[in-house]
Amino acid sequence: DWTMDAFRETEIAKIRAQVGSGRVICGLSGGVDSSVVAALIHEAIGDQLTCVYVDHGLMRQGESEQVTRVFRDQFKINLVHVDASDLFLGLLAGKTDPEEKRKIIGKTFIDVFEAEAQKIGGADFLAQGTLYPDVIESVSFTGGPSVTIKSHHNVGGLPERMNMKLVEPLRELFKDEVRALGRELGLPDEMVGRHPFPGPGLAIRIPGQEITREKLDILRKADAIYLEEIRNAGLYDVIWQAFAVLLPVRTVGVMGDGRTYDYALAVRAVTSTDGMTADYYHFDHQFLSRLSSRIINEVRGVNRVVYDITSKPPGTIEWE
Ligand code: XMP
Repeated sequence: DWTMDAFRETEIAKIRAQVGSGRVICGLSGGVDSSVVAALIHEAIGDQLTCVYVDHGLMRQGESEQVTRVFRDQFKINLVHVDASDLFLGLLAGKTDPEEKRKIIGKTFIDVFEAEAQKIGGADFLAQGTLYPDVIESVSFTGGPSVTIKSHHNVGGLPERMNMKLVEPLRELFKDEVRALGRELGLPDEMVGRHPFPGPGLAIRIPGQEITREKLDILRKADAIYLEEIRNAGLYDVIWQAFAVLLPVRTVGVMGDGRTYDYALAVRAVTSTDGMTADYYHFDHQFLSRLSSRIINEVRGVNRVVYDITSKPPGTIEWE
């Protein structure tokens, strides 16, 4: 559409004017905002941009590969892909408290990002996917004006510490406009239309128990089947967020002639407009039955599937 086209041209001119011959570093998360920022800035200044993707080992199935494929292979962007999963999982070992996990992940993320930025010789600017709602609302996305229900992590403090200025080309846009711009820039639909995904990733979807590679693998497989079924049913865009949660409980089951003793898995899907309030999604029972048999048959380690029927409030969208 021509409005977005005009916006794109204006923003590219602005980025060039702001950055000059300086170097820009951008933290890619695989999410919509940072992806669009990276593609837009790359179009403006090409190789003056370096993107850093910190893989904490807590991403969904296939996501890290997709980031590399799209940004390095398709867009030819200078991309540093850091596999920091050993570091993150090591620091998370034995930790079960939600806020403690968030703090560890947030701090380690900044440490790794900063180390990588230094390795490439630093930069003059840090690119960020700040949107208009972030600019006008000083409150956090999870809490109310005075309560923080869950802490959120971003690269706060880093620009000052590393003496970088901010480049924030999405400051005037709402989410749906960011998506339109992303499509205009040639990002794959799958990336541009993606459900929100929390910074701490799958770590907060393995609640109340130790996070291990084995549990992450089980959760990733089940979650991928769930999202595939949702896409096949044509429901992905109707739903705000959908994901699986690996519960800290094993239950007894029967499989053939044998007894099983495996994990119970919860699946969640909500509709929402901003994530502040949400309703659980009313799947039809055929969908739920097919999902349950697929997960139990295809994912070793899970023998029971339950559906979360809690709206927000009183529940939050994530389980912790
Ligand atoms: P809750 O669970 O608070 O989530 O209802 C509201 C929205 O925020 C996302 N969320 C997070 N995003 N870091 C993030 O970047 C976090 O620590 C975090 N916690 C929740 C959640 O996925 C939902 O979209």
